[in-house]
Amino acid sequence: MKSSLSADRRLSILSRHLAGTIHKEEGGTTISSSPTSAADSVFANVVRAPEDPILGVTVAYNKDPSPIKLNLGVGAYRTEEGKPLVLNVVRQAEKLLVNDRSRVKEYLPIVGLADFNKLSAKLILGANSPAILGNLVTTVQCLSGTGSLRVGAEFLAKHYYQRTIYIPNPTWGNHGKIFTLAGLTVKTYRYYDPVTRGLNIQGLLEDLGSAPSGAIILLHACAHNPTGVDPTREQWEQIRRLIRSKSLLPFFDSAYQGFASGSLDEDAQSVRMFVADGGECFIAQSYAKNMGLYGERVGALSIVCKSADVATRVESQLKLVIRPMYSNPPIHGASIVSTIFKDRKLYQEWTVELEAMADRIITMRKQLFDALRARDTPGDWSHIIKQIGMFTFTGLNTKQVTFMTREYHIYMTSDGRISMAGLSSRTVPHLADAIHAAVTKVA
Ligand code: LMR
Repeated sequence: MKSSLSADRRLSILSRHLAGTIHKEEGGTTISSSPTSAADSVFANVVRAPEDPILGVTVAYNKDPSPIKLNLGVGAYRTEEGKPLVLNVVRQAEKLLVNDRSRVKEYLPIVGLADFNKLSAKLILGANSPAILGNLVTTVQCLSGTGSLRVGAEFLAKHYYQRTIYIPNPTWGNHGKIFTLAGLTVKTYRYYDPVTRGLNIQGLLEDLGSAPSGAIILLHACAHNPTGVDPTREQWEQIRRLIRSKSLLPFFDSAYQGFASGSLDEDAQSVRMFVADGGECFIAQSYAKNMGLYGERVGALSIVCKSADVATRVESQLKLVIRPMYSNPPIHGASIVSTIFKDRKLYQEWTVELEAMADRIITMRKQLFDALRARDTPGDWSHIIKQIGMFTFTGLNTKQVTFMTREYHIYMTSDGRISMAGLSSRTVPHLADAIHAAVTKVA
């Protein structure tokens, strides 16, 4: 609408308006009341959303003034001193990058840094993977694991005939949201057995067996989040045979390569079994945990196809997914990763640091298990040492979790998942006391 006011007058009204001092009509132009009045907002009907079930735990933790508070919510590695860790190899790579005056800040291609993509595919599929040698794999750099899953999901929603994806029950809280928002129908398959606190292989095989042909199946490559329960190699083989016999499409989420067992190759076995049979699959990789690059948002999506020609066509369509979403990915994190991968010494050092993180987590499992045994805490806690990766799925219920937060200032997700990577020898007794009190006092 064209205003009859002079530019100066408009400016003056605007600044007073911003200061919240105008409440009525002036000079023929209706000025809304104070900007703090919610009723007048065009967004007045927006309802407050709940905090994210995982990241919201950190929000609550940050607000707690208690000196004994402990955050075991988000899966982020902490040192024995309870501090975030920047890997030594990451610091070295960053120094090399900063000192390299030939480096510029130009846009990356839509698919990201070429070296990073090539080396990421090699990391997950193995250096001598026939799929790589045959150019059957297209890899695009994405925004960590979440971004890789989302790009893959958008591609599937657009180009794949089957629009149903099966995710394990339970699974990482973001999975369902990512695939639903991309337009896929999300269903679950049985995964965890609360009685044995292990894998419900029978239920899993039954549910995948009755999925419609071609359905997409989300699989955690290793260190299942939140349960810490992985299939054995024999069980993976059963799953693979079923998936292939029904022409289901596997979509691997690989967020913890090297973090589960301490070995990069060992933790990639499930994916490699599926690629070795010549079938197609999707793989989302994240470098958040295994390189500690949480905030750099660096990851990759690989799609293994049946021919090199299909792979290049798939890649051309991935570019059409990415370009309107975020144009092209950020350069820094991917440069750190490829610098480490290309330098034999740095790569070697990385595997040592990675193993040390995995070992510390395994030690925390043992210490917590021993501490509960020493307290004679009712129940069988052997799952703490049997489960693998960053998390223990304790079996504590929501009421017990609430009790532990209220009485002991211990923060964790309401499903009873604790991040073992957030624990240290110093804090194990505090956690064991809290678990003991929770199971003996709260039903
Ligand atoms: C987790 O499960 O805690 C991590 O993967 C962090 C996240 O983004 O949820």
